[in-house]
Amino acid sequence: MKNAQPHTIYLKDYQAPDYLIDRTELLFDLKPNATLVTSRLLVRRNPDAVKDDEAGLPALWLDGIDLELLSIAVDGALLPAQRFREEAGGLSLTVDKPEFLLEIQTRIAPESNTSLEGLYLSNGMYCTQCEAEGFRKITFYPDRPDVMSVFTTTIVAPATYPVLLSNGNKVDSGTTEDGRLRVTWEDPFAKPSYLFALVAGDLQYVEDTFTTCSGRNVKLQLFTEARNIGKCAHAMTSLKRSMRWDEEVYGREYDLDIFMIVAVDHFNMGAMENKGLNIFNSACVLASPETATDTAFQRIEAIVAHEYFHNWSGNRVTCRDWFQLSLKEGFTVFRDAEFSADMNSRAVKRIEDVTLLRTAQFAEDAGPMSHPVRPDSYMEISNFYTLTIYEKGAEVVRMIHTILGAEAFRRGSDLYFERHDGCAVTCEDFVVAMEDANNADLKQFRRWYDQAGTPVLDVQDEYDAENATYTLTFHQHTPATPGQEEKLPLHIPVAVGLLGANGDALALDESDSKEKVFHLTEATQSFTLHGINERPLPSLLRGFSAPVKLRFDYSNTQLLFLMQHDTDAFNRWDACQRLALRTLEQLQTQYRAGDVLESPTALIDGFSAVLGHTELDPALVAKMLTLPSAQEMAEQGSEIDAEAIVAAREFVRSTIAGALKSRFLTRYHALDERKAYQPTAEDIAQRSLKNTCLAYLCNTGDEDALTLAQAQFERGENMTDVSAALAALVEYGAEGVAEERLASFYQQWQHDTQVVESWFGMQSSSASFGSLGRVRQLLSHPAFELKNPNKVRAVIGGFAMRNFKQFHREDGSGYEFLADQVIALDGLNPQIASRLVTPLTRWKKYRAREAEQIQGALKRIADSGELSPDLYEVVSKSLT
Ligand code: ARG
Ligand code: ZN
Repeated sequence: MKNAQPHTIYLKDYQAPDYLIDRTELLFDLKPNATLVTSRLLVRRNPDAVKDDEAGLPALWLDGIDLELLSIAVDGALLPAQRFREEAGGLSLTVDKPEFLLEIQTRIAPESNTSLEGLYLSNGMYCTQCEAEGFRKITFYPDRPDVMSVFTTTIVAPATYPVLLSNGNKVDSGTTEDGRLRVTWEDPFAKPSYLFALVAGDLQYVEDTFTTCSGRNVKLQLFTEARNIGKCAHAMTSLKRSMRWDEEVYGREYDLDIFMIVAVDHFNMGAMENKGLNIFNSACVLASPETATDTAFQRIEAIVAHEYFHNWSGNRVTCRDWFQLSLKEGFTVFRDAEFSADMNSRAVKRIEDVTLLRTAQFAEDAGPMSHPVRPDSYMEISNFYTLTIYEKGAEVVRMIHTILGAEAFRRGSDLYFERHDGCAVTCEDFVVAMEDANNADLKQFRRWYDQAGTPVLDVQDEYDAENATYTLTFHQHTPATPGQEEKLPLHIPVAVGLLGANGDALALDESDSKEKVFHLTEATQSFTLHGINERPLPSLLRGFSAPVKLRFDYSNTQLLFLMQHDTDAFNRWDACQRLALRTLEQLQTQYRAGDVLESPTALIDGFSAVLGHTELDPALVAKMLTLPSAQEMAEQGSEIDAEAIVAAREFVRSTIAGALKSRFLTRYHALDERKAYQPTAEDIAQRSLKNTCLAYLCNTGDEDALTLAQAQFERGENMTDVSAALAALVEYGAEGVAEERLASFYQQWQHDTQVVESWFGMQSSSASFGSLGRVRQLLSHPAFELKNPNKVRAVIGGFAMRNFKQFHREDGSGYEFLADQVIALDGLNPQIASRLVTPLTRWKKYRAREAEQIQGALKRIADSGELSPDLYEVVSKSLT
């Protein structure tokens, strides 16, 4: 059974399923190259299907890919050959009964499944990934989320696989006559096939319990290979915090008696919310102070929460079809972001999320794969697990929260869960629940779901001293995107505050409020505030209240003032970013003109003031001192000149490093306390500023600074400090020194997969160290595996997505290299190939020379033979 030819699927063609599956019983007899899968399905005609009574009962369509069909029986009798037909992508059956028991036996080969979709092997352990359409690689089935069924799963495996897991509760176990192990799991909650999971291996686990708000005890288990058993504590703590938070903030209680997490090394994404049996990429769940950085600790907390929250926003209430993916993903990302904000620094979490949005989602919105939060068509759904669906989708939910207010939002989510529990629903159902619970009108707001592209918001202000009025005029405009020429005005909530000349927040109305949300609904709209007794400085789009590009003509002095005085921490940071971006842009212009680069004095003043601000959260200070990435700079301008971007950024960094060296040093020493590692917000903040200072210090290239890094590296207190020191030495130290430190680090950590992955990434993303030659060497390093997505992302992704300087070398060799890797990967793992090609997709935005080179690399991929549907969609859309 082969894949179907790539073709476009449209939301408008959605039809309810012809048949439902009330019960699904699966039997797995596990063998690496010949696993037998027997399914018993209780099939029933869907009363809600679109009916054509003349034609009799329709054929039953079952999806299936890479399956060897062994037998089909209906109500106990073998189905004659003329009653079924194997087609591309599945199986069509003519049964002519409204209800029947269907039994199918298939054979699959997990060992040769390198796509990491369906059932596969990772380090000798069996695991599954079914979302979105992986279940069809396990058995013939209506593999669509609106077919929900109660699953019972029996697994039979040799005794070398003592742990056999699936969804729900373990109801039976024993030994077969020939001494193999047999376990049966039953999941009482009806679920779509994409939430099915199976794990079999020689695993250890840590266990804990959680008492729910109604007093039920839930067993929590985290499974991993024996060598990683010491890295489970943080994920377990995060899980318990998530469970409590969802009860407190959303009133959601866990529903089964057991919740399991399994760590696997080979995984395409971060993790998967399979009912009662979450499967995680090892890098997103395993951590210890010695091996994981603060960033990893926080990522783990967020992803554990994300997957747990899916139990309600995703599993209990699921998606009707994959066009509705953001229904569960956007909502769940919003939920996990609020959780992380509550557990850590709210402002810093917001800054990180907005940075990702501005860097990568805005770029996606402006590129060939641009699509709305609810797309209306796709070729390969795996390509739509995007920043737009996840991150912009979360922004859309956040805006509903802002527009309605926290209490009303909670009433809406309560109604949504109550009304749709056990159902497969749409984004529209979510919005309607929000409206119905609050008598609200979100009619115009709905456009956020079907309009692609990033809106641009131009703002002007006018102060009338005589009448003490202050007027803000907004003009919104969304640029055209592929397939969407005309855009309508959106409902944009804009949170605003005003600052007086002494830095105080001004009262905006009689009730003395210091912040207001303006509801922009027209293309051009003005809002006037009264009783404003001095010309104010506006703080606009506070907390990034809408995912737009806001343009207001601030002077440098005004930005410096906002950096010092804005009460909105996010906007304080944003003022700093605006100043940095503007400075970097001017320097790019000077560079292109061949002029002498001007010292960035305003920025230096700003940074100096920020560094001296000892009451500010050090994590916020670290964020303010971090220049926009090259990727973000590229997103800002109209045409990308990679060389100018790199030159401007390097110049600003080293100038600041030199000018503020003694300030960085003072702050570094003040923050450099010896204490036991804890991943608390406070300690993480302290380390982040300390290491930001260290990087600037090393950027001077001065021996004393590098000695400091060397000492921090040697102290080896925790991985956050060790890897920050190593990264600084690699980036700014002499080549020989870098090589030697990298080698000794590898020597020490070669047994640890997660550390080796970051060791790879550190080298290939280093502007000074990660040349193409070095990256090629890494590909032939014994620890590199093309079949392991984490290693591919570290080495190839690190180079193509995080090493702007080397990837964009003027000879175009970076592009050719990426094309070669994408072609090689497509045969192994189409999802990874199609993601990795992203840096090539935006060729039209580059200067002519690069554009031509990148386009050439894309064409070479297109002509390299038969592409997977995944890669075909991205490459063909990029070339049109
Ligand atoms: N639902 C998962 C999550 O966001 C994502 C899994 C999708 N995996 C994939 N290979 N498409 O939590
Ligand atoms: Zn998710």
